Amino acid sequence: MDQNQLKQQVAQAAIKFVPEDCIVGVGTGSTVNFFIDELAKIKGRIKGAVSSSEASSQRLKQLGIAVLDLNSVGPDEVPVYVDGADEVNHQLHMIKGGGAALTREKIVAAVAQQFICIADASKYVTIMGNFPLPVEVIPMARSHVARELVKLGGQPEWRMGVTTDNGNIILDVHGLQIAEPVKLEQQINQIVGVVTNGLFAARRADVLLLGTPDGVKEYR
Ligand code: 5RP
Repeated sequence: MDQNQLKQQVAQAAIKFVPEDCIVGVGTGSTVNFFIDELAKIKGRIKGAVSSSEASSQRLKQLGIAVLDLNSVGPDEVPVYVDGADEVNHQLHMIKGGGAALTREKIVAAVAQQFICIADASKYVTIMGNFPLPVEVIPMARSHVARELVKLGGQPEWRMGVTTDNGNIILDVHGLQIAEPVKLEQQINQIVGVVTNGLFAARRADVLLLGTPDGVKEYR
């Protein structure tokens, strides 16, 4: 089984978490693209989606799924948020933002009642940090934030040529061995000029659907 088949497998498995007649929170990335394709097959059974990126919104609309403004959606109206991850640990903390959509992903996840993480087995790790941690930064704060990230033990690298959907830049932080994800998430968010960082630990996934050659494994 190749990686795309594993991604498709978890995308299909995520559909059973989508209740009838609901608004679905939709993440971003290649795994989520498979999920959007699956969602299109049951589009008559849902009210629509709230989306975490322009790219996902475009794909949803192309497939005939209504994309709603998050501000028009009530707090109990999004039972599930389905998204991928760049790394996920055994406590279901995640690194996200490889696709630069981390801030909107965190916002939609905050509104949803359940976070369903869909990932292939290569993303499942004991200690996070091999994947460089993305940090979304207000452009004029780039150098300041980079210096503060060095003080926290990381090596930030400007993701050149990338502007987020919010008009900001991304610093990818290399060299971290993330032993305390909740604490590090908070510390980085406190740096002035940081919009948010790609650690999803304070709000971790509720369910992980992991695609393996032996089938989909479910962790909670
Ligand atoms: C985008 C993300 C994605 O969920 C993450 O990068 C995983 O992507 P993929 O499914 O393509 O491996 O956080 O900002």
